[in-house]
Amino acid sequence: MNTEPGILGSYWLETAPPPTPCPPPSADFSVDVAVVGGGIAGLSTAWELVRQGREVAVLEADRVAAGVTGHTTAKLSALHTLVYDHLRRTRGAEGARLYARSQSEAIRHAHDIVDELGVDCEWEEAASCTWAENPRRVGVLRAETEAAREAGLPAEFVTETELPFPVAGAVRVDGQAQFHPRKYLLALTDDLRRRGGTVHEGTRVVGLTEGEPCVLVTDTGVEVRAREVVIATHYPVFDRALLFTRLSPRRELVVTAPVDEDRAPRDMYITPEQSTRSLRTAPYRDGKRLLIVTGEHFTPGGADVEERFARLSAWAEDRFGALTFTHRWATQDNDSTDSVPLVGPFHAGGRHTYVATGFGGWGLSGGIMAGRLLSDLINGRTPDWAGLYDPRRLASVIREGASFLTNQAHVARHFVGDRLSAATGPAPDDIPAGDGAVVRVGARQCAVHRDADGRLQAVSARCTHLGCIVSFNRAEQAWECPCHGSRFAPDGRVLQGPAVRPLEQRDL
Ligand code: FES
Repeated sequence: MNTEPGILGSYWLETAPPPTPCPPPSADFSVDVAVVGGGIAGLSTAWELVRQGREVAVLEADRVAAGVTGHTTAKLSALHTLVYDHLRRTRGAEGARLYARSQSEAIRHAHDIVDELGVDCEWEEAASCTWAENPRRVGVLRAETEAAREAGLPAEFVTETELPFPVAGAVRVDGQAQFHPRKYLLALTDDLRRRGGTVHEGTRVVGLTEGEPCVLVTDTGVEVRAREVVIATHYPVFDRALLFTRLSPRRELVVTAPVDEDRAPRDMYITPEQSTRSLRTAPYRDGKRLLIVTGEHFTPGGADVEERFARLSAWAEDRFGALTFTHRWATQDNDSTDSVPLVGPFHAGGRHTYVATGFGGWGLSGGIMAGRLLSDLINGRTPDWAGLYDPRRLASVIREGASFLTNQAHVARHFVGDRLSAATGPAPDDIPAGDGAVVRVGARQCAVHRDADGRLQAVSARCTHLGCIVSFNRAEQAWECPCHGSRFAPDGRVLQGPAVRPLEQRDL
């Protein structure tokens, strides 16, 4: 295995053209619709609304298309591993049909946008396959094939694939797509601005007061008044409907390596086996395609990430031969407890606030679907699938009881257990360079990091979202919260919500 140490960064971010700068607002302003979050769901919603004549502003805490969307595998597929057999049991045949239709239409819509705007985003039509190597999983794959067909997808069960290793079987759906997500979204952002929309990067929203109008407050104190507000921040930074009880964060790793054109798979693959493995290739140079391998999911803050990177790389080499890895990065998804994204009105009493979250690793087709759904709702139209994705759905809350309770038990375990474990943590002097640990200093728990030069830095270990204790991800040099997935830099800055405030500074 040839792995250059230290290459930790997304291929999509490295290979997109330089974006047009979108500075933060310098004064209070009013707008028809404010979209909080500049990933695929937020930008798609904003673009649809601007095209329909709305005055829209996007407020992004960091850079657009650089968060979760800039770290995906970038598959546009309506086949989401094994979702259809689950859906027909939990939401009925009609629910499964609506899911398939809404996701398929989102992919067709993205294709139309690429054509209309002439976007050069490496769009390729490809089949999407869910495979298994264990013969005991064949029954599950056959059931998924049947459910996906019933839902309206052209699914077939196959035992032969182009993969360079044998499979016991696979569900295959033709006519899906893969692309370069950041190139697509930067083009969408440019078009959005050309049509009169505004985009503000480096603008973290820290307050929301609902009303007529709603008022958003940024971290620099700027107030944004908006008739309608869309919260599309991956994990919602405001939670008026206790959605955090129905979402669980999952982190996953990605490695890439060039492979010869003649042995590169052209279709997209995923298996639920072996801690999930997902594969696709992308156009590369020198007669090669870039193999993109994803897997090794874990709860933020809870795993030896270096060991997992090594396991994923070894798996790729075991299947494809010796590889020279070019990039590696991590991505984060939120799974909803009933496996259906939460897209629609924010909460039962909210008349002007909307949310999009819980895409469970399928945020590209899901984000484009959310853009169409939310723009329809804001414009007074109700698509057939609005009820399926409605965050206020109650019937499914009852059905999802088991995963709901598991989710809460997980949070409670961290909330209580992690407070006790710092009592046995290392002393600050024992923390090696480049590592971090939670230590007790007097009555307080501090998150202490030692940088490469040996300097110690201490911040509060209590996550500013709801108070769980963070733990250190050495490979990515970040404090991570296991409860709802907030992430912080060693100096306490927020890297990823739902937290919006930094970890407090501490003196050792
Ligand atoms: Fe919710 Fe940390 S992310 S408590």
